[in-house]
Amino acid sequence: MKKGLAGVVVDYTAVSKVNPDTNSLLYRGYPVQELAAKCSFEQVAYLLWNGELPNEAQLAEFTARERAGRALDPALRLIIDALPEDGHPMDVCRTAASILGARHELTGDSSPEANMKKAIDLWAAMPAVVAFDQRRRHGLDLVEPREDLDYSANFLWMTFGEDPVDEVVEAFNVSMILYAEHSFNASTFSARVVTSTLSDLHSAVTAAIGALKGPLHGGANEAVMHTFDEIGIRSEEAMEEAAVRARAWMEDALAQKKKVMGFGHRVYKHGDSRVTTMKAALDKMIAHYGRHELLGLYNGLELAMDEAKAIKPNLDYPAGPTYHLMGFDTPTFTPIFVASRITGWTAHIMEQLASNSLIRPLSEYNGHEQRPV
Ligand code: SDX
Repeated sequence: MKKGLAGVVVDYTAVSKVNPDTNSLLYRGYPVQELAAKCSFEQVAYLLWNGELPNEAQLAEFTARERAGRALDPALRLIIDALPEDGHPMDVCRTAASILGARHELTGDSSPEANMKKAIDLWAAMPAVVAFDQRRRHGLDLVEPREDLDYSANFLWMTFGEDPVDEVVEAFNVSMILYAEHSFNASTFSARVVTSTLSDLHSAVTAAIGALKGPLHGGANEAVMHTFDEIGIRSEEAMEEAAVRARAWMEDALAQKKKVMGFGHRVYKHGDSRVTTMKAALDKMIAHYGRHELLGLYNGLELAMDEAKAIKPNLDYPAGPTYHLMGFDTPTFTPIFVASRITGWTAHIMEQLASNSLIRPLSEYNGHEQRPV
């Protein structure tokens, strides 16, 4: 028996290749580090869905479709307003995916063309949901989307209502590309399981959002920030002092056998291939905002975990503090992951449908032997 399906290969995929031996990740054959350095998130989304990077005309048409779908559905806004402001933003994301599915003009149609439109529409609509949900919790009103901004810049615009700074947009764009896809992770596999019954795309994405919420998966980026807050962020503190406090916190946590979120990975055992690229983006944000004490906390935790258990950071570790510096509320971090991963999830949904087989594993019974009532 392979509990947690650890190490079990259950199907083929052409969407991405995770190679722990070479510590590499390819999206449709392209190294993710190169995509993050040279491409927009729109180009990567197109690549995941279509298998090739778009030419100029294809990108123009694709970008126009995405920008046309950014406005928050008024009916959805009423439902979000009815959700408690102290509830979790991932519950708002999960609800939004469900509502947008029930209200979609092609609901009931699961043809490849309909699913591609549903995927682009959901991807385009999610930033408004995430941004409005954070703003309403601060008593702020909706910021309408701007068609002159790309996906990442518009996400920041709708969240903060200010012209986004290029350097911040670049770091956000890197995080969108790195979070987009990662083969059969728990949330993607959840989407494939739902799809394998021939259920619809929005039901599969709603299931995936539920899986991503957990702190062992996407919720880890939020949990990383809770760790920083528990240690205590003291602006202006010297890096070295922050590192000493962080090390002490980690040593205590490990002595208590705690799982420290942001570290470890089921597939990568020598470090997550995406961390170097995301850490470089974090370093730029630390320099941009002048918050070197965060680097002290980051380094202190990483060093102590490495010395104690030789466990390396995963993508969520640098991503969390990056979003914190940009001004996102901590519970908004995983919803940002949702907006990015909609591309990977829906690419897998379409791949599952193209060569489907119902996913239904076996179990070994260890309950009561048969007995009379
Ligand atoms: C994501 O799968 C994907 O691709 C996911 C993802 C994606 O892009 O979709 O990459 C995104 O979810 C990244 C992972 C985010 N999760 C976290 O940061 C949560 C903390 N990490 C751990 O819970 C753990 O590393 C898992 C769940 C991610 C993976 O765990 P495994 O492979 O099941 O390994 P394990 O839990 O059995 O741990 C093996 C050993 C254990 O020690 P022992 O009990 O054998 O002595 O390593 C220890 C664990 O205690 N360990 C940790 C640890 N991770 C592993 N100890 C402390 N803190 C940790 N974070």
